[in-house]
Amino acid sequence: MIEIKNITKKFGEFTAVNNVSFKIEKGKVLALVGESGSGKTTLSKLIIGIEKPDSGKIFYKGKNIFDYTKDEWISFRKKTQYIFQDPYSSLNPRLKIGTSIKEPLLIHKNIKNKKEKVLKTMEECGLKKEFYNYYPHQLSGGQRQRAVIARALVINPEFVIADEPVSSLDVSVQAQILNLLKQMQKKYNMTMLFITHDFSVVRFIADKVAVMKNGKIVEVKEAEDLFKNPESDYTKQLLKAV
Ligand SMILES: Nc1ncnc2c1ncn2[C@@H]1O[C@H](COP(=O)(O)OP(=O)(O)O)[C@@H](O)[C@H]1O
Ligand SMILES: [Mg+2]
Repeated sequence: MIEIKNITKKFGEFTAVNNVSFKIEKGKVLALVGESGSGKTTLSKLIIGIEKPDSGKIFYKGKNIFDYTKDEWISFRKKTQYIFQDPYSSLNPRLKIGTSIKEPLLIHKNIKNKKEKVLKTMEECGLKKEFYNYYPHQLSGGQRQRAVIARALVINPEFVIADEPVSSLDVSVQAQILNLLKQMQKKYNMTMLFITHDFSVVRFIADKVAVMKNGKIVEVKEAEDLFKNPESDYTKQLLKAV
């Protein structure tokens, strides 16, 4: 589904992403794990085209996204969604929850009953339909993150990037949100890049794991394999800490 090939991104002298390569098969979840500052978010911004790499290629279904025409970008954007870490700042406080969730549908002129689609997605994400008319501040952190997930999933994306989607939540709520993401990923056979600094959530969600340190991938493997036979010292160290 997606192949990242020798991607490098510098900010001045500093190399935030250093010659990174990996692939994600259709319907699979790759967890990108690494400590804060290792370059995870920068890499995800490159994948959705918010940042431009200094070198390297990103193939989406075999085509380099940096060769896309404007129309191809629009179509890519319709199939790709991004879930941010902080559900508070990623929902506009002045918009009702229903309006926020509906927003990605606006570019889909062929979807007729948009409100119905929003309500159905809200239900799937464990949100009561009353919340349609609520504002973000009227929801708990977990409910807001459910709304962010509903907004990402309302267009039935093929590929989802979730950047530390549970890091800002209470531990008790983290498990529920992870469950929801995993459930929805399976139900719709979505391909997912799941970014985290927390190794303990990896085993639950990932098929494959890429471990990132100082902008480099130090190890990339099937999840089972990584937990059984970690190769790099850094991975061993991370596993020991869990
Ligand atoms: N726009 C930018 N300009 C300069 N440095 C940046 C920029 N974005 C990120 N960085 C730096 O790149 C490094 C990686 O950041 P980031 O990708 O956010 O890491 P992570 O998501 O793994 O915590 C950090 O040292 C950060 O300060
Ligand atoms: Mg980050």
